[in-house]
Amino acid sequence: MPSFSELADPAIAQLAVYEPGKPIGEVAREIGLASADAIIKLASNENALGPSPLALEAMRAAAAQMHVYPDGGAFYLRQALAEQLGVEPGQLLMTNGSNEGIELMAHVFLGPGTNIVMSERAFVVYRLIAAGARAETIAVPMQGFTHDLKRMLRAITPETKIVFVANPNNPTGTLVDEKAIARFMKDVPEHVVVAFDEAYVELLPPDQQPDTLQYVREGRNVVLLRTFSKTYGLAGLRIGYAVAPEACVNLLHRVRQPFNVNAMALAAAQAALRDEAHVEQTRKLVRDELAFYADSLAQARIAYVPSVANFLLAKVGDGRKVFEAMQREGVIVRPMDGYGLPEYVRITLGTRPQNEKCMAALVKVLREAG
Ligand SMILES: Cc1ncc(COP(=O)(O)O)c(C=O)c1O
Repeated sequence: MPSFSELADPAIAQLAVYEPGKPIGEVAREIGLASADAIIKLASNENALGPSPLALEAMRAAAAQMHVYPDGGAFYLRQALAEQLGVEPGQLLMTNGSNEGIELMAHVFLGPGTNIVMSERAFVVYRLIAAGARAETIAVPMQGFTHDLKRMLRAITPETKIVFVANPNNPTGTLVDEKAIARFMKDVPEHVVVAFDEAYVELLPPDQQPDTLQYVREGRNVVLLRTFSKTYGLAGLRIGYAVAPEACVNLLHRVRQPFNVNAMALAAAQAALRDEAHVEQTRKLVRDELAFYADSLAQARIAYVPSVANFLLAKVGDGRKVFEAMQREGVIVRPMDGYGLPEYVRITLGTRPQNEKCMAALVKVLREAG
């Protein structure tokens, strides 16, 4: 009898599986701790402040209505978002996390014989989803830790369908600024769709956020992918959105599930959007804790990549070993060998006490490693 792998399409059977971190309780059990409370997870770029209190309240109120299907058109949330962003509701599509937006783009634009262009060290999901759609990935070397947009332009072929620009980029935490984007947009060929993945962009002060919405308003071939997972602290609910010219949004609608975003998420996101104080506190945390790590890492003579997002890369030698040793100290960070950065770990910003514990564990582990 053939195995399932033999029955599967070879392009899928060969795919690497996205490696999520272990649950905290499981890590606690492995290192012999009775409770998971002593463990901190700084591995998935979540918001250390948690969800907005307004979102929590909205979720409690929505709970009693969970026997009813969600509003598949996300009418009120799209209206609120449209107003905030200065676009039309028809230029918005709500998604099950921004990851779903990446996947819907693959359904619409990719197939055998096509390719995507991305940076070598950008969010790994692009290449996984491209492979799932039987498309090739052209991975372009970065300039240091920043996207090399000129080189990405040169890498585009007649078969290229999507160029993914994660901005700020995960895992490097770097930003390409509005001017660099403008030059890129001037020269990018018309046959490609540019996907600006802006999962972390609201963490920046508004005057530092590159204005990519202008390209949507101009009707260019762009899709902005955004999320409530990071700044808004709702990663567990799975809600994000795409902003694109209406003709593009209409195509993305064709390949989505009718109720792709759940009702709890819709309620929470709408409340979170109103909570400017929570967004401001989150920005402050990012500013303060990036400064804390910059000082602490410099003092400990540990090299790092300056970041604008809620995480940063620290150069630690053998990243996987350091990750494992830190885990034994009760701090979970993310090894980066899967991204071709085996000397690095990625640390998500926690609260100050969590970051102090993380730094202490890192220094101890590196000292013991000699
Ligand atoms: C660059 C980037 N894009 C997209 C995502 C997906 O986020 P979500 O699906 O939770 O919206 C992430 C999550 O880590 C990310 O780092």
